[in-house]
Amino acid sequence: MRSHYCTHLNENDIGKVVTLCGWANSYRDHGGVIFIDLRDNTGLIQLVCDPKDSIEAHKTASHVRDEYVLKAAGRVRSRGEGLINPKLKTGTIEVVVDTLIVENASEPLPFVIADPNVGEEVRLKYRFLDLRNQKSYEIFKLRSKAAIAARNVLDKMGFLEVETPALTKATPEGARDYLVPSRVHNGQFYALPQSPQLFKQLLMCSGFDKYFQIAKCFRDEDLRADRQPEFTQIDIEMSFCEQEEILNTTEELLKAVFAVCGREIKTPFPRLDFKYVMETYGSDKPDLRYKLPMVEVADLFSDSSNEIFSSIAKEPKKNRIKALRVPKGDIFFSRKHLKELEEFVTKFGAKGLGYFQLKEDGLKGPLLKFMSEKSIHELIKRTNLEIDDIVFFGAGKKKTVLDYMGRLRIEIADRMALADPDELNFLWVLNFEMFEVEDGKIKAMHHPFTMPHNIDAAEIEDITSIAHDVVLNGVELGGGSIRIHKKEIQEKVFKLLGISKEEAEDKFSFLLDALKFGAPPHGGIAIGFDRLIMLLTKSDSIRDVIAFPKTQRAQCPLTQAPSIVSFEQLRELGIKIKEKNAKSNKGI
Ligand code: AMO
Repeated sequence: MRSHYCTHLNENDIGKVVTLCGWANSYRDHGGVIFIDLRDNTGLIQLVCDPKDSIEAHKTASHVRDEYVLKAAGRVRSRGEGLINPKLKTGTIEVVVDTLIVENASEPLPFVIADPNVGEEVRLKYRFLDLRNQKSYEIFKLRSKAAIAARNVLDKMGFLEVETPALTKATPEGARDYLVPSRVHNGQFYALPQSPQLFKQLLMCSGFDKYFQIAKCFRDEDLRADRQPEFTQIDIEMSFCEQEEILNTTEELLKAVFAVCGREIKTPFPRLDFKYVMETYGSDKPDLRYKLPMVEVADLFSDSSNEIFSSIAKEPKKNRIKALRVPKGDIFFSRKHLKELEEFVTKFGAKGLGYFQLKEDGLKGPLLKFMSEKSIHELIKRTNLEIDDIVFFGAGKKKTVLDYMGRLRIEIADRMALADPDELNFLWVLNFEMFEVEDGKIKAMHHPFTMPHNIDAAEIEDITSIAHDVVLNGVELGGGSIRIHKKEIQEKVFKLLGISKEEAEDKFSFLLDALKFGAPPHGGIAIGFDRLIMLLTKSDSIRDVIAFPKTQRAQCPLTQAPSIVSFEQLRELGIKIKEKNAKSNKGI
């Protein structure tokens, strides 16, 4: 229908007869001449409907309203001096229309697309309208190009794209499963995959050597700005590889994907130990666009006259006293700010927030009186304290202190705007702990198929894994590991996780079987594709880079999913909804 896209026209096309299609972005009637900004997915161009040129086109234009779908034919002309719109890519030209066809009318929209104050619920209800803007189109164009770039580079490296099932059995990635009831087998359920983890391992056992998939994953977990219940991974697995090859492959992949939007990234990425990043930045995904390291200072409080601090210092395995120096923090933070920061950390379990300031006339702070001269001197040295700096202290149980001091570090960097929004700071975190204890239960820090370095270590917390996370600007972009390919080690890990032989058989007999029949050494990684696009496009929320996302409450306002289903459907599935949970559907 069209000869050109709106913004593909420029001054070289002056005099050409063209046909354009799109939506009326806006219209203005200037004393008989009607101007319409026509929009397509490339942007805007001005149409001029002058009765002197075409009475018919002018008459049609007089009925046009916002968002009408138009086809316009006419001649490109220069706008002339003084009429140029520097804000438009096509601001020096316009199209004088001689034929205008309204392909479809539009009712007034339920909201103004460009209005930043429209709530998300409304935007998502009318997502097809919300997406009618240049910024969204550019995001999805980039997303498409990034996926193609990923496919191409993986293909070049010899990877095979294989699809794995969406109706499957639960895979343990640590979140709840979405279940799908079976009609044929009443009372039985499929699980939607939390990741293709087990299938990709099986493909290695089939000898496929290098697998990838741009895979949909489903996790029923609490949502945040960078989490969705349904998301996409670039999922990779390789056989006969060491961790080094997985890291190199991932760097090559990311290089190719970032190149599509003209961003060159430096490789190799720095490699940091899990233990080091936790102790120094209080996070396993530190944003190192700014430094702000924490130092351990418990030993300086062992002889403190403050009993709370000295008793914390006596148990260095269980407890921490961390000092976080903020250069020029004393100038930046007022008393009111300090109070706010204290309130901030107490939300995460801190009992309070101690601090020292180094002023022209010496060190100040409430903790001073509890420390010896020698300790104070050492503290200044250890934190590299300079005039106008402030040092914050966190003291207490290791896990709590590292958590709230890590959050404090991010809060301070946000308030001081320390992170350069244009920098891409990649890093690897390696040598994770294999297990973590949550609510008294031992859990796998990655997943139970991760190869440990030292499964027979005396203490469970000393067992580390050959796992790797890639971090970009403080966001966990991807994670993976070398896998267990020996049945005996897999069984030991299940045992440590409290998974009985019967349970392991019931849940993963197919994997245990595969490990019996010649499983090669293998490993891999999965990159969160939505997060990648979110960072590439500097979007605030993962929802901006997913065409039809769910809300924070895991609902889709557009389709109204999840929703009740018919009595008949439930009956076929052998499902009865409990009275108190039912909205209006009681099932059988
Ligand atoms: P993991 O669970 O670390 O590893 O997931 C890999 C990456 O997927 C992204 N991601 C998410 N993105 C959006 N919303 C979510 N709810 C969500 N959850 C995870 C993150 C994360 O780093 N099977 C392993 C990979 C492997 O070992 O090879 C796995 O899924 O960016």
